[in-house]
Amino acid sequence: MKSRVVVITGGTSGIGRALCDCFAKANYQIVLAARSEDKLKKVQKELSLTGTQILVVKTDVRLEEDCKNLAAETINCYGQIDVLINNAGITWYESDNDGINISKQRDLINTNFFGTVNCTKHMLPHLLDTKGSLVGVCSIAGEVGLPNRSAYSSSKFAMNGFLSSLRVQHIKKGLHVLVVFSGYTSTNIRKSAIKDCNSSGFPPGYGGDVMESNMLSAEETARHIFNGVKYRKRALRPTFVGKVTVLLNKLIPHLNDRLLHKYYK
Ligand SMILES: NC(=O)c1ccc[n+]([C@@H]2O[C@H](COP(=O)([O-])OP(=O)(O)OC[C@H]3O[C@@H](n4cnc5c(N)ncnc54)[C@H](OP(=O)(O)O)[C@@H]3O)[C@@H](O)[C@H]2O)c1
Repeated sequence: MKSRVVVITGGTSGIGRALCDCFAKANYQIVLAARSEDKLKKVQKELSLTGTQILVVKTDVRLEEDCKNLAAETINCYGQIDVLINNAGITWYESDNDGINISKQRDLINTNFFGTVNCTKHMLPHLLDTKGSLVGVCSIAGEVGLPNRSAYSSSKFAMNGFLSSLRVQHIKKGLHVLVVFSGYTSTNIRKSAIKDCNSSGFPPGYGGDVMESNMLSAEETARHIFNGVKYRKRALRPTFVGKVTVLLNKLIPHLNDRLLHKYYK
């Protein structure tokens, strides 16, 4: 039997890198997309040593042409797409002093939202052919507004809306759509954002390595996502805090706003 094909964007680091290992163990053929060629080659080498079939395609998900090329190269190489995981993403924290930064708002929407739209546009016909899985690695910030993360929250709300709409649209065609409302997971994402921050002293409330050590590992989050694909789940909230946050937001929204301010700021 032909093994299934998974395309993972942002697969060179954090959750995406851990997803590669999960799908490789389940004998999937893997297609990996990210911007850094060096990092792509490193992961290709690591996975090839385990006998995994892996294609790497240098891709900037903000660019539709790159995503079209990613789909074409995947079909050229493997002839089908069974799972697309829209995982590539960035974050950013705005300080109260700096205020709203339009260029950062655009940057996050372009990567987190349009990155998902661009890849999905060019792979959806193939996913419909295989009755496959369309996945978005979203965030709790895509269900509740987190303080000082308006750019991140809006990009993830948009991603959630886009994927949820497609789920309903294609409900009779066998397409599986999974939105993953990830919670804090220890990866490079915050460190990359800090490098990029233009004001001193934030992200607000970020406790650095001590805080990272209390988060889920990338491997744990990836295992949840892998099982979500396997059992064709609709939505996932891998962290306990994430589950509670969303529940309180439904039950006691006014009080929850204050709790979010206390916990996340
Ligand atoms: N870690 C958390 O606490 C957390 C919580 C909730 C949700 N998430 C979501 O989980 C996803 C993965 O994040 P992570 O924490 O694993 O971050 P990470 O370790 O920083 O990895 C991000 C990956 O995305 C790639 N990437 C970034 N911009 C890209 C672009 N324009 N085109 C293609 N690839 C791009 C990076 O590679 P290049 O830079 O080489 O392109 C890298 O492989 C993100 O969507 C994030 O929002 C994370």
